[in-house]
Amino acid sequence: KHKLAVFASGTGSNFDAIAEQIEAGRLDGKIGLLVCDQPGAKVIDKATVRNIPVFAFQPKEFPAKAAFEQAILKELQEKHIDWIILAGYMRLVGPTLLAPFEGRIINIHPSLLPAFPGKDAIGQAIEAGVKVTGVTIHFVDEGMDTGAIIEQEAIRVKEEEDRASLQKRVQAIEHNLFPKTIQRLLMAVNREEIKS
Ligand code: GAR
Repeated sequence: KHKLAVFASGTGSNFDAIAEQIEAGRLDGKIGLLVCDQPGAKVIDKATVRNIPVFAFQPKEFPAKAAFEQAILKELQEKHIDWIILAGYMRLVGPTLLAPFEGRIINIHPSLLPAFPGKDAIGQAIEAGVKVTGVTIHFVDEGMDTGAIIEQEAIRVKEEEDRASLQKRVQAIEHNLFPKTIQRLLMAVNREEIKS
């Protein structure tokens, strides 16, 4: 079974959606670790109730990104993690993790990339007045939301829609699309392994 580490900074609704699909037998992986850079985040409780191990750290307590990513890497190796799933991890991933996990780090972003990268993609979409936005799942490289796109789903922005309502509808798409796309990716990798 593929072992996933989910990285998250906040609420963890995507973390929960992935864990639910695994429990339901629709995603053939296992979450071996939650990595969280906000020791008070709600996602930590979500992992704890599911008995999923947590590595929470305070970035400020490390001299630099390379140092905390080294600490993360050690955890990932100890737990034999195969894939890194960024689910609302609000930080750029550096070379310490990118090199050993090349092609095995994916991220979800609440816009149709390359539109509205970075923070507050939903606020950016409202501000821009776009009629269509959506969700992107992509491979992670050293840039800000720039890696190869794996999957996208569009959503129409309603007249008079505010941030909260758009966020709610975008997240509903995420909770369905993210586990499905991870499953598709894992199955594709399995098929490649059989061939070679
Ligand atoms: C999600 O909507 C995700 O797409 C977004 O953060 C939210 C986390 O929610 N990610 C980014 O904006 C990355 N740049 P969650 O903690 O409830 O899953």
